[in-house]
Amino acid sequence: MRIVVLVSGTGSNLQAVIDAVSSGTLDVDIAAVGADRPGTYGVQRASEAGVGTFVVDFKAYPDRSEWNAALTAAVSAYRPDYVVSSGFMRIVGQSFLDAFPNRYLNTHPALLPSFPGAHGVRDALAYGVKITGCTVMIADAGVDTGPILAQAAVPVLPEDTEEALHERIKIEERRLLIETLRQLADGDA
Ligand code: GAR
Repeated sequence: MRIVVLVSGTGSNLQAVIDAVSSGTLDVDIAAVGADRPGTYGVQRASEAGVGTFVVDFKAYPDRSEWNAALTAAVSAYRPDYVVSSGFMRIVGQSFLDAFPNRYLNTHPALLPSFPGAHGVRDALAYGVKITGCTVMIADAGVDTGPILAQAAVPVLPEDTEEALHERIKIEERRLLIETLRQLADGDA
């Protein structure tokens, strides 16, 4: 199973996938890692692991639809079975979704449908929930909508900060992402 992973930031979940592949616990081919801006640590992590990288810089295009077309072309060139949004903080357009129908996975640091969007951890903390978690899903045209494939719960502790809670969520998120990829690769999802 070939995957392309899209990142916008530090790529710690990407690193977990890279490590699982190199240790032989996950049998997928990371065809490439792409980013929506230059200079991400996620792309650096991929380069250091010998994985091909590309950047389709959102700011280099006159509008969202031209950026979306360029992203679709760049990802399609690797002929992935699945595309994984792993901290990729851009909404893709319909032509991208049409190019990878039911093949665009997303991870989110909250128990969807609660707390979608760019600040899932902050919003859960602010609301005062006692349990939050993470979700792996098939992305659709909405913001963190789409069919849910897997979820894991994480308790919120009284002294939690956004950073501390996010780090504990990411531990579960990595496990869930790798397990979901394994199931997809095995045809068990
Ligand atoms: C992850 O927790 C991911 O769920 C979140 O960004 C983080 C990326 O961490 N994505 C979203 O909030 C999307 N709505 P990483 O760059 O260290 O892997």
